[in-house]
Amino acid sequence: PSDIDFVGRELFKYQESWYGNKMLQAILNFQRGFEPQDTDIIIASFPKAGTTWLKALTVALLERSKHSSDAHPLRLDNPHNLVPFFELDLYAKSSKPDMTNFSSTPRVFATHVPLHTLQEALKNSSCKIVYVWRNVKDVLVSYWHFKSALMKVEAERSLLESMFESFCRGVSYGGPFWEHVLSYWRGSLEDSKNVLFLKYEDLKTEPRVQLKRLAEFLDCPFTVEEEQNGSVEEILELCSLRNLKNLEINKIGIMSRGVDHKNFFRKGEVGDWKNYLTPEMEKRIDMITEDKFGGSGLKF
Ligand code: A3P
Repeated sequence: PSDIDFVGRELFKYQESWYGNKMLQAILNFQRGFEPQDTDIIIASFPKAGTTWLKALTVALLERSKHSSDAHPLRLDNPHNLVPFFELDLYAKSSKPDMTNFSSTPRVFATHVPLHTLQEALKNSSCKIVYVWRNVKDVLVSYWHFKSALMKVEAERSLLESMFESFCRGVSYGGPFWEHVLSYWRGSLEDSKNVLFLKYEDLKTEPRVQLKRLAEFLDCPFTVEEEQNGSVEEILELCSLRNLKNLEINKIGIMSRGVDHKNFFRKGEVGDWKNYLTPEMEKRIDMITEDKFGGSGLKF
């Protein structure tokens, strides 16, 4: 089946989610061609749920104490170049991409596809999957600003309204949002050793606790000495929105698929939706959320 999204683009349904034609081809390439290694780490998310932050935190954790501060990979490149997406970057054109940049382990990749689609590519290997999710209303508002920036226009209400309609119907890249979140939520309940479920809002309110959870999950926990010498805070500071946004590399670069690095860094606040959604929109999306998440144990 196919449908039309908020900018009039045709999307196709594959394994219960929606994708543009090129993306779908890339996902098929990925599922067919990916050769997983048990040490692989995969960062998964719905677009605009905190992917960039999680990529940065993961790189900073794995690379800690390996570099002088000036030579740190996060100071030299954008998190999205350091951790490419399977379907947007690596497998966009071929099912056998050049993987020479991934000669050391663990390899770190990213994806926006739901868990069942990812698992088909992982072929029963025991990769570690870290998922980040976020309040759907902030995801929507963030997506609206991002899309407007990509189109180099002011964020217009008419676009927000058509995105809202598409979102509620579930017709957007990787959507429906709710089923996406639920796929990873259930995965984390079934296999907590290999699927970690993080929430953007928790990362904001208790960053130390969540970073330590991530480190333990990735089998690189902080030592007592590291905890005492400020290593946790150092990583949080390096990966803070303010710091990443102000790095020259994140202000000037353009990615291979034409996205300006700076578009990934905006406000990073919880509840920015209150500035844009009407009470009717709030009510409608809250009802969908209650309906879809009811009984799952998930709460905003
Ligand atoms: P806002 O548009 O609400 O500001 P993604 O990385 O999945 O594309 O999500 C982008 C959202 O995460 C944007 O939200 C962006 O500002 C925010 N973000 C990016 N880097 C961040 C960081 N280091 N810390 C907190 N939020 C960050």
